[in-house]
Amino acid sequence: MGLRFWSLPIFTFLLLGGILWVARKDLNFYAEANFKCLKCHKGSQSLENIVRERGITKADELRNLVRRGPKAGLHTTSSEEDLEKAIKYLQLK
Ligand code: HEC
Repeated sequence: MGLRFWSLPIFTFLLLGGILWVARKDLNFYAEANFKCLKCHKGSQSLENIVRERGITKADELRNLVRRGPKAGLHTTSSEEDLEKAIKYLQLK
């Protein structure tokens, strides 16, 4: 009897919690996708494509390529913060 009465509120609570949790992940995703690298890197030049084509799997590989690679000159205006955001965004370790 008592269990029946509470099952609806509990169900509603869990459902709402689930929806909020999913929505929060979406919001985070958009916040993280908002960093300066993406101003130049979109479409076929997207960071996803570059990383896939060069087989970059580690955060240090990306740091080295951006800071000391042949295209480092193009990235002198990119901040460390953006580079770290890119690493997170690309889920490199
Ligand atoms: C001012 C525009 C601009 C910004 C901002 C920018 N890039 Fe680039 N990036 C370029 C261009 C242009 C290239 C050369 C693309 C090509 O090879 O055709 C490039 C190349 C690269 C490459 C490949 C390097 C290589 O040696 O081939 C990587 C990796 C990269 N960018 C990462 C980043 C990351 C991470 C950020 C943010 C921290 C960033 N870029 C910000 C313009 C930019």
